[in-house]
Amino acid sequence: MTRTTDKGDNFDRHDIDLIASSLILPNGVVVRNRLVKAAMAEGIGLGGGPPRKGHINLYKRWAEGGWGIVISGNVQVDPRHLASPHDLTLPDGASTLKAYNELASAVHDSPSPPLLLMQISHPGLQSSSTVNLSRWPWEPAIGPCSERPSVSEGMMGWIWEHAVWPTPSRKITNLEEWSEIIDGFIEGAVLAEKAGWDGVQIHSAHGYLLAEYLSPLTNPNPLPLPGVPNNIPLRLHLLHSILKGIHDNTERKFIKAVKINCSDFVEGGLDESQATEIVKTLVSWSTLDIIEISGGTYSRPAFASPESLKSPSSARQSLFSHFTSSLSPFLANPPEGPAILLTGGLHDRGLITSSLEDRACDLVGIGRPACLIPDLPNKIILNDYLPKEEARFGGYDIPGSDLMKRLLDASSKSKNGIRLVGAGISTLWHEWQLCRLGRGVEPDKNMHWLEGLLVEEIWFEVLKGGPMGWWRYWRS
Ligand SMILES: Cc1cc2nc3c(=O)[nH]c(=O)nc-3n(C[C@H](O)[C@H](O)[C@H](O)COP(=O)(O)O)c2cc1C
Repeated sequence: MTRTTDKGDNFDRHDIDLIASSLILPNGVVVRNRLVKAAMAEGIGLGGGPPRKGHINLYKRWAEGGWGIVISGNVQVDPRHLASPHDLTLPDGASTLKAYNELASAVHDSPSPPLLLMQISHPGLQSSSTVNLSRWPWEPAIGPCSERPSVSEGMMGWIWEHAVWPTPSRKITNLEEWSEIIDGFIEGAVLAEKAGWDGVQIHSAHGYLLAEYLSPLTNPNPLPLPGVPNNIPLRLHLLHSILKGIHDNTERKFIKAVKINCSDFVEGGLDESQATEIVKTLVSWSTLDIIEISGGTYSRPAFASPESLKSPSSARQSLFSHFTSSLSPFLANPPEGPAILLTGGLHDRGLITSSLEDRACDLVGIGRPACLIPDLPNKIILNDYLPKEEARFGGYDIPGSDLMKRLLDASSKSKNGIRLVGAGISTLWHEWQLCRLGRGVEPDKNMHWLEGLLVEEIWFEVLKGGPMGWWRYWRS
């Protein structure tokens, strides 16, 4: 049972007031508090396309939950290159634009609406043809290099890699193709603004295409892109073209954000000193309102650390705050400079308060807990009646996930464990909680992983919930 204290306890009051305080972004837009629902692929629907009824139900729950900002799951610029078969894709006509507009209205019509950002993305060489079925199995992913992502050293790793990516990626060598990708991101932002969203976040983290361009491992000899001033480091040409294009083609009050890695956590990949220089350069362009810091790739998923969920008492640490704390003295506070948004493991009122006080961040991103408690800000973090020791969320294991990891050789403890699959097991289970919210059913912390697979994935997503579901699907 939840213990309550007298409302107004001085110490908790200070913490809550700080987290509930508003923040002015460089473009003048006010964020009403410091809590951001981080970008999370919703897992609703199959085969790309615009938001569905399930998305609207889900986003209404977040809109009523007390968040300052809600960031969508990754919306892919190219429907052939998905990160998961459930991904949203950019509007391609009036009817799909209308669906995005309806989602924005559903959020903005709530009594105290958060700001709504669309995360625009291209998964680059991590897009699988066999998992997503969005292109022929022999059609490669694309990236700045020709490569097959590495998931582990052992035999099982080899099998997974070849099953998920039957062919290595195709290296983009043609400036025209890069220009098309740049235009896709700019067009995405323009459409998001047209559809009534408050801004965009450009996904340049987690080993996706824009992060691959930044990484010395996947882009050892970056191509200079046309129209970029000579003083811009080559590795930043792609981001510069995209951010400048969005800046020039959208209103000032339309929020521009980027998500980047503090490190890829892979030998030869982006490291913290390179990421520091990148952030400083990005800030110097004065085109950004928010910079989110994350880390890792789907082969090395540092951002999905299971430890940060398991034990709320021993794992009370943010995953990447050491990086932002060392960087923040060089960055002006908002609104003079962009807000630093830190995501990963920040699931505790005390930890959120100290991160804001030490300026490890200006905004706090929360992912996995928002799948189980969509109104986490109102219910826990900003709840006056909940004392500090109880204002946290974590301490859960995913029922059945250890069994699945053993079966699929995905244990992070084993040398050759397939980390991609381990992260996928956790991500899918959290997505299934979002699917439940989309269906109008409460999340279930005790849901066994196999139950999620059979009920949420196969019955409701693939089979659409049987004949009644087909009828509803056909009618919608
Ligand atoms: C179900 C799920 C889907 C996710 N999808 C995305 C995504 O689309 N884009 C992205 O940048 N990060 C994505 N992430 C990563 C989160 O934004 C966040 O960085 C990560 O969960 C760490 O934060 P947390 O410790 O608060 O969960 C996803 C995470 C989960 C659990």
